[in-house]
Amino acid sequence: MKIIVVAGARPNFMKVAPLIEALRAAQARCPALEYMLVHTGQHYDAQMSQAFFEDLGLPRPDVDLGVGSGGHAEQTGKIMVAFEGLLQRVEPDWVMVVGDVNSTMACAITAKKLGIKVAHVEAGLRSRDWSMPEEINRVVTDVLCDLLFTTDPLASANLQAEGIDPGRIHFVGNVMIDTLLKHRERAAALRLWERFGLQAGAYGIVTLHRPSNVDDRQVFEGIVAALEVVQRQLPLVFPMHPRTRKMAETFGMWARMQDWPAANLIEPLGYLQMLSLTSHAALILTDSGGLQEEAAILGAPCITLRENTERPITVAVGANQVVGSKPAAIIEAVQTRLSQSQTPCQPPEKWDGLAARRIVEILIRRDDRRQCYGDHSG
Ligand code: UD1
Repeated sequence: MKIIVVAGARPNFMKVAPLIEALRAAQARCPALEYMLVHTGQHYDAQMSQAFFEDLGLPRPDVDLGVGSGGHAEQTGKIMVAFEGLLQRVEPDWVMVVGDVNSTMACAITAKKLGIKVAHVEAGLRSRDWSMPEEINRVVTDVLCDLLFTTDPLASANLQAEGIDPGRIHFVGNVMIDTLLKHRERAAALRLWERFGLQAGAYGIVTLHRPSNVDDRQVFEGIVAALEVVQRQLPLVFPMHPRTRKMAETFGMWARMQDWPAANLIEPLGYLQMLSLTSHAALILTDSGGLQEEAAILGAPCITLRENTERPITVAVGANQVVGSKPAAIIEAVQTRLSQSQTPCQPPEKWDGLAARRIVEILIRRDDRRQCYGDHSG
């Protein structure tokens, strides 16, 4: 059985790492299992890509399609053309895609049209917000996939409500949390907060990169105004996505932000550095999907600067509050959170570090040729 695992953008790398590890372990007992890691090149800056491979101990990708940035159609199209050529050469049995970035959807469509089976890891998440490119990527990917691995029962229910055969859906847990649990102690030992002269538990982390937040001048200015107020109460560390930094400069806010006395505006961080900071943060302010989930395990309250979330399980377990992007709402939510004592929340079911192993087991057991289990194993 030959499997291609695809990664393209920063949030994919921590999801493929445990899958590659589980595949490597499975290969040791089943030499007929072959796998290959393909990087589409959607993210290419050293800090957005290579740093993650190093931190996570990921092997260098077997193939880098090197597609780079572009408009949605251009980027998606370039990935599809490059990936189709690779599939024709390699002829895998399965393509495994993760998350909801353009690379996820592009590779799922390409493989399916060549008659290759596709598995989606992190299936079934829905924001119901069609202005998000990721929502389109999620829905298109899920409808095509032969196997859908979900992080929580709400995601499985979304897929069933869309008419997907329950036999294709498997609730396995969260591969991103596999990675977090594996690296948590190593990350905390970095004590990165000290680099910024901060004390553990006495700072906030900010990340922003959604086009809806940073490409619209009025929205971005509102968030920046709120952050200006927040940093007077709580020192902030704000690792900036390239898009966010570029738009802050375009809108003429960059110089003003640099004058904030208690905000550390920095380049994007590597995985371990970021985890070091988040694991001791008093608060996380973000529009990222992954951070909402990580917060649910780390116990740092998360305030999500969006109107919706595709990860409602994080709200259900009490780890996350979705407040939108209006300055008054952000400031109020921060003040409320800071005035409350932190109550630890119950982690979502199966977010236990074993998701990737469950996925690989299911894939192997479905292999018609029974190369790894023999004819009697079921
Ligand atoms: C992508 C994903 C988003 C994910 C995010 C995490 C899609 C539709 N979006 O958004 O879901 O949350 O990654 O970061 O797939 N750029 C660089 N260096 C890089 C990569 C990008 O400078 O290595 C800049 C370029 O100006 C580029 C812009 O960032 O045009 C946007 O990159 P892109 O890959 O299109 O989307 P992201 O905003 O990163």
